[in-house]
Amino acid sequence: MTAQDPRPAPNHGFGIDVGGSGVKGGIVDLDTGKLVGERFKLATPQPATPDAVAETIAAVVAHFDWTGPLGVTYPGVVTEGIVRTAANVDDAWLGTNVAEVISKALGGQSVTVLNDADAAGLAEERFGAGRNNSGVVVLLTFGTGIGSAVIHNGLLLPNTEFGHIEVDGKEAEHRAASSIKERKDWSYERWTKEVTKVLVAVENAIWPDLIIVGGGISRKADKWVPLLGNRTPVVAAALQNTAGIVGAAMAAHGDGTG
Ligand code: BGC
Repeated sequence: MTAQDPRPAPNHGFGIDVGGSGVKGGIVDLDTGKLVGERFKLATPQPATPDAVAETIAAVVAHFDWTGPLGVTYPGVVTEGIVRTAANVDDAWLGTNVAEVISKALGGQSVTVLNDADAAGLAEERFGAGRNNSGVVVLLTFGTGIGSAVIHNGLLLPNTEFGHIEVDGKEAEHRAASSIKERKDWSYERWTKEVTKVLVAVENAIWPDLIIVGGGISRKADKWVPLLGNRTPVVAAALQNTAGIVGAAMAAHGDGTG
């Protein structure tokens, strides 16, 4: 912390990562990217409507007695606080001012909402697999869908949606999400052929210096990253299940989002 830093010590933030099965949160040390204490998780309510999810977020926040600003991830495009896409979540989210709904459930606390992959990308670039790299870093998350983040010299370009670009006549996430590997019961060899096609399409369009692969399947990265045939160096995400929380907390403080 410098003499000019306006934030009081300790430099803590709070992040919430909203996923299909769990709403996870924690207090984040914004200087180290580490959680201060535990990561707390509650089951995602079903149906996962905005109001029900907001109530669950409020319960996670209450668990920590957190009263400051918080960041929350959403698995789709959010511009000007409004949800624009809902590829793998309930359509009820479309058009919702999501920060407002959550803030209301929290009695007016300040809430910043950003895309889930953008949050993970911010955290990985600053504290994880991209920490010693400058230039353009692309993070791709492989799960139910494919999420993407682009970070240039520490600053996020929000709402890239590389999971929805068309690759060889098919949407990237319908070709190479890890859910497709599971559904088709593909081997790593078979699935990696599809992942390579997606990575080549991304690198031909944006020429990153480094690609970070995240999502649950990145825990087995040694089984498939060596099989990839694209040209940009690829590394596995390092923060695993805290990246979304850390990135959300960073965004709530304007770290990496300008
Ligand atoms: C959504 C992205 C999201 C990704 C991972 C995609 O279907 O369009 O916004 O980041 O899934 O959740």
